[in-house]
Amino acid sequence: MGKSKVKVLVVGGTGYIGRRIVRASLAEGHETYVLQRAELALQIEKLQMLLSFKREGAHLIEASFSDHQSLVDAVKKVDVVISAISGVHIRSHSIGLQLNLIKAIKEAGNVKRFLPSEFGLDPARMGDALEPGRVTFEDKMAVRKAIEEANISFTYISANLFAGYFAGSLSQMGSFVPPREKVHIFGDGTLKAVFVDEEDVATYTIKSIDDPRTLNKTLYLRPPDNILSQSELIAIWESLIGKQLHKTYISPESFLETLKGLDYKLQVGIGHFYHIFYEGCLTNFDIGPNGQEASILYPQVNYTRMDHYLRIYV
Ligand SMILES: NC(=O)c1ccc[n+]([C@@H]2O[C@H](COP(=O)([O-])OP(=O)(O)OC[C@H]3O[C@@H](n4cnc5c(N)ncnc54)[C@H](OP(=O)(O)O)[C@@H]3O)[C@@H](O)[C@H]2O)c1
Repeated sequence: MGKSKVKVLVVGGTGYIGRRIVRASLAEGHETYVLQRAELALQIEKLQMLLSFKREGAHLIEASFSDHQSLVDAVKKVDVVISAISGVHIRSHSIGLQLNLIKAIKEAGNVKRFLPSEFGLDPARMGDALEPGRVTFEDKMAVRKAIEEANISFTYISANLFAGYFAGSLSQMGSFVPPREKVHIFGDGTLKAVFVDEEDVATYTIKSIDDPRTLNKTLYLRPPDNILSQSELIAIWESLIGKQLHKTYISPESFLETLKGLDYKLQVGIGHFYHIFYEGCLTNFDIGPNGQEASILYPQVNYTRMDHYLRIYV
């Protein structure tokens, strides 16, 4: 793997995960293109970030989701398209826009692989997810359907839990920093989840783009040392700060009751916690023939362990 360099286009390249994917692609030595949306107008931070990518060797391609031909022209330049378009309701949710990108990829006809914006729970396994959070999975599945109907080759990245969201916070709601006194634990805190440093999400993603073993498959990111229950994650933090936190255990009934009172955007995101921490949806299945596991395919990646990750918060 990694022998020949690939022409890669990142869409959503200034986003939270997108910027890391751009950098990982450059680091791997791929010819990296980043979509510069015509609509950016006065968004100076985004423009500056795009220019910093250009300084690091990326090519910027101007295009717009409302200009089909511009998308066709953009994807014609590359072998692989990676979309990192937004899909977190409390920030922005534009997953459906990828249908325009898929039309362009289909028309262009040259793209060897498309990685849609997934990077989370496997939406194919979330058919019974709670309302209203299921919208995330339904929208991602609609994108998959369009990809497969258009006969576009793909890799789906099931990244599990971004560490910045879920480890830094000890998976508490309403904060991204770990508590120092009290902590809420979902259920009995023993179901296993998977925490992945966002930089590693990007690295594994880039490793997969020219790998025949991930062609038309889902790549699950399950670095073994980061398969942890919420209680295990809390214990890591406690040992780092040398102190035990006061623990409150939340029953599933009480969790669901609280959820009902939240506004729509929070209900979507927090609803996913239920599946992760009360149902164990990240780890309660074996990876079948349509999947691969990233740390097995790429053992050379020295992924960040959560004891190391959490040190910065001490
Ligand atoms: N597993 C996890 O814990 C976890 C956590 C967070 C996110 N995710 C997933 O990661 C993916 C990316 O999320 P993110 O938080 O990185 O996204 P984000 O930073 O909120 O947004 C990514 C990019 O989406 C593009 N975008 C937003 N609104 C747009 C619009 N109206 N028209 C065109 N482009 C638009 C922008 O691209 P430009 O660069 O062109 O401006 C933006 O930079 C999603 O699928 C999300 O579900 C997973």
